[in-house]
Amino acid sequence: MKLLAKFSIIFVVVFGLGLSAAGYFSYSLLQSHAREMVEDRAKIMMETALAMRRYTIEQVKPAIGKPVFSKSDMTQETFHPETVPAYAATEMFNYLHEKFPDYFYKEAALNPTNPRDRAVDWEEDIINNFRNQPKLDMFAGERMTPTGKSLYLARPLRAGASCLECHSTPAAAPAEMIERYGTANGFGWKEDEVIAAQIVSVPASLPVEMANREFRQLMTLLLSVGAVTLVFLNVVLVVLVIRPVSQLAHSAEEISEGRMDIPELPCRGKCEISMLVAAFNRMHRSLLAAMKMLDKQ
Ligand code: HEC
Repeated sequence: MKLLAKFSIIFVVVFGLGLSAAGYFSYSLLQSHAREMVEDRAKIMMETALAMRRYTIEQVKPAIGKPVFSKSDMTQETFHPETVPAYAATEMFNYLHEKFPDYFYKEAALNPTNPRDRAVDWEEDIINNFRNQPKLDMFAGERMTPTGKSLYLARPLRAGASCLECHSTPAAAPAEMIERYGTANGFGWKEDEVIAAQIVSVPASLPVEMANREFRQLMTLLLSVGAVTLVFLNVVLVVLVIRPVSQLAHSAEEISEGRMDIPELPCRGKCEISMLVAAFNRMHRSLLAAMKMLDKQ
């Protein structure tokens, strides 16, 4: 096999091994970055929902929600759904959802006050999961949606004593709330029972697709660098080694076949090949001199 072919094969094998290792590590790195990015987004959404709930409880309710008394107290009742944390967080995320349809927030309940909050099958499973495992305070998973894979984070919502004012019986709830929501749903919650789950969903496929595209671009770039390097090294090998060595081999063949009168090989530089050419020329000259001496005798 020719030297150039040998060299090219060795280069392709070594470069291929390096490329596979680089590909393996960069693929897992890009994928794990994409996953981290998706998880971070979901966590930030969850924290935003909690912040919105807190803002409603600490600032909105004291500012606009006058004390709500039950019917039996015969006092003026004023009920604003805007003071309900679940309402505030859901409404805020509905505005966000208009701009980013793949991002989704829900306070899914098994027996909701507002029918839009009713848990669908997979959300029901999450709530039941929280009911069966009281110590579980966060749950993450992936699911397929019509727009692609999405990651969801869920937290349990427990009914505290203060919640039962509106969620125990219709009689205890503010009349204006009953007028608005009716008496059929959202009641009968028990203290400390997991009644709902806060669920945020963020798209998982887009960052993964981006990571895959980046990976393809990186591999194409590395392959191009490899191909250009191979061509460049081949040219250098031909000019510096293969061409002078072939000339040397050709001359050696001519001399071995008795054609002594061939011109000397050009010799430039001080590299190993030049030293070899110079030595060959010296040997050629000595051989010529020896032959001449032999001819004279
Ligand atoms: C002043 C009455 C009131 C109090 C107190 C109250 N809620 Fe609600 N809650 C409501 C109303 C009204 C809704 C429906 C809001 C809407 O239209 O989205 C609601 C909705 C919810 C939802 C969404 C599911 C559903 O039922 O539609 C959750 C979860 C929830 N409340 C949990 C709680 C918890 C936990 C507490 C106690 C920390 C609490 N609520 C206290 C009135 C109240």
